[in-house]
Amino acid sequence: MTHTYPPLNVTVRTPRLTLAGASDELLEQVVPLVRAGIADTQPWPFDDPISFYADSPDREWQWLRGIWRGRGTVTPQKWRLYFVVLADGEPVGMQDLVGRDFDRFGTVSSFSWLAPAARRQGLGREMRAAILHLAFAGLDAREAGSDAFADNEGSNRVSRALGYQLNGTDWDTRRGEPALIQRWRLTREQWQPGRRDDIELTGVKQCLPVLGLG
Ligand SMILES: CC(C)(COP(=O)(O)OP(=O)(O)OC[C@H]1O[C@@H](n2cnc3c(N)ncnc32)[C@H](O)[C@@H]1OP(=O)(O)O)[C@@H](O)C(=O)NCCC(=O)NCCS
Repeated sequence: MTHTYPPLNVTVRTPRLTLAGASDELLEQVVPLVRAGIADTQPWPFDDPISFYADSPDREWQWLRGIWRGRGTVTPQKWRLYFVVLADGEPVGMQDLVGRDFDRFGTVSSFSWLAPAARRQGLGREMRAAILHLAFAGLDAREAGSDAFADNEGSNRVSRALGYQLNGTDWDTRRGEPALIQRWRLTREQWQPGRRDDIELTGVKQCLPVLGLG
């Protein structure tokens, strides 16, 4: 199905997975994962406030409202593209790309999660590589950032493996408690040598005007 709103038609395909623009039909398929629980174990991975710490069904409602809000708040300075991660055609998580002052600095950051059963199989790394391909090859970004709590081994290892460099620390709260954040940064020049030639982008050109680009 082709959507009227171009961001919903964007796809990023790698040999292992597909990032598909998060249409309401796809979000509906992700609901069971959210309902079952994403923030399942300590150390807690998400900063406050986030829907994943709420009880179901408020969790699903908050989660949907957050995505709808983000979709509806798009300026050249601030946008967020939401993708459902499909492995073997099944939804396993989400991978978002966030533009902040992209029109001035070409800077993006990313946010992701996988259902607990889909973790530790290399999908986290593959979906980050996919979103970086969209950012650098598709949108001509200059720099990608990533933040994670210092004890979030999965996220920090993905960043390190993909060539990001340490970029200082920060503080944030999770479930009301302060915790240290590790910041990472990957420039276009650092991404380029590891650039993949097996990732296919679709629908990016039509999406550019939505983001105030080109
Ligand atoms: C972060 C996340 C997306 C990573 O995805 P993943 O598929 O589990 O990660 P991968 O299988 O690609 O693993 C990447 C590396 O992290 C390691 N790793 C993953 N989870 C780990 C854990 N819980 N403890 C220790 N190491 C871990 C893997 O062994 C691998 O190491 P390597 O690069 O040395 O081989 C996933 O763990 C997740 O959804 N976590 C909860 C939500 C979250 O933290 N989101 C990010 C918020 S900033």
